[in-house]
Amino acid sequence: MDVNRIRADFEPLARERNGKPPIYFDNGCMTLRPRAVIDAMCAYYTQFPACGGAGRSHHWFAQETNERVEAARESIRRFLNAAHTDEIIFTRNTTEGINLVARAFPFQRGDVVLTTDKEHNSNLVPWQYMAAKMGIEHRAIPVRADNTFDLDALESALKDPRVKLAAFGHVSNLDGVEIPAREIIRMCHERGVQVLLDGAQSVPHQRVDVQALGVDYLAFSLHKMCGPSGVGALYVRREHYAHLDNFLVGGDTIRDTWADRPPEFLPPPYKYEAGLQDYGGRIGAGAAVEYLERLDMQAIHEHEVALNRCLTEGLSQFEELEIIGPPEPEKRGSIICFFTKKPGLGLLADMLDERSNIMVRSGMFCVNSWFNARRISRNVTAVRVSLYMYNTLDECKVFLDTVREILAEPMFEGLPILPVREP
Ligand SMILES: Cc1ncc(COP(=O)(O)O)c(C=O)c1O
Repeated sequence: MDVNRIRADFEPLARERNGKPPIYFDNGCMTLRPRAVIDAMCAYYTQFPACGGAGRSHHWFAQETNERVEAARESIRRFLNAAHTDEIIFTRNTTEGINLVARAFPFQRGDVVLTTDKEHNSNLVPWQYMAAKMGIEHRAIPVRADNTFDLDALESALKDPRVKLAAFGHVSNLDGVEIPAREIIRMCHERGVQVLLDGAQSVPHQRVDVQALGVDYLAFSLHKMCGPSGVGALYVRREHYAHLDNFLVGGDTIRDTWADRPPEFLPPPYKYEAGLQDYGGRIGAGAAVEYLERLDMQAIHEHEVALNRCLTEGLSQFEELEIIGPPEPEKRGSIICFFTKKPGLGLLADMLDERSNIMVRSGMFCVNSWFNARRISRNVTAVRVSLYMYNTLDECKVFLDTVREILAEPMFEGLPILPVREP
């Protein structure tokens, strides 16, 4: 992988502040976009900025819009190796995809949905909401002490015939740990349980082949994989459309309506894409997956692990810091998250930004339930570095040097190392 050539595609990397370039380490939230994606979106707005969608305008511009949007859907199908293009529903993001499944799944009162106890709020709150609204039950399987998936716990949870759906984060945004998805899906299918994967942190970083996995539903966000903000996709295995209900309804979801009888809906995926859509965004999404297709997803993964190894070795030397999750960088892929354990270090993220333009995230990363269940002290702060293919070893070294410099500040001298958990 030629990282320098890749970097030239991302214009924000050429900026400077205080004579220094940006070091963008917040890719788990949103990635930068290459020129090709911006150009594809600009082409929509400057050349044929019309409405697409079934049953709307049919003129010249609308036809171009439709063609490009459907080409983008096909690119996403190919990227995931889905069997059919109509298995790809455009959404706004991962959160919307998970909500769609939560609302449309044919739950009966008392049905059980499994997650782990380390899910992003987007794969927790929809199930809690459906539990309160529909009388289903949400059960969280605890992860093991090192934050990896517990297959034995899944095995016993699956003994309950009321379990109908398992919804797991494929790769955790807290610590980068991947679950053994293929094995999990095999175990669930043996019991007639369907599986939804939250692919927000997996699809951007590795080859995710929905047919090889046998997954039933896969939700992800294009803004975490070089695509425009607020565009996501949901893969639904075609046979499941037969039992899925509607989600949002209204214009663009129907073939015909009458004032005095129920509407006739369009077939999927259109019946799930209500109202006028972000056509420019979808076209940009197609350009994003085409951009990634031209690279090698395995090489991206290996590059991220190499950077993670450098950061792991460096950060492990500071007694003030503690890495979250397993110590091996190859088990954490694109993410390295750590606690800062000295008073005052809660501002580490801001200090990194001010001193060296290093952009990281700190807080709970929307995995509040994991922090709360483990009684993580409010005196320690978690900081997350999340990497992508354009990051470099040099950037990692600047990061480590800046951390070292900050920790050596006189203001931290003699301060105690705080316990991570509440007593
Ligand atoms: C694992 C995981 N799931 C879900 C989400 C939600 O993604 P979005 O905000 O794009 O819906 C994120 C975003 O950080 C995530 O990392």
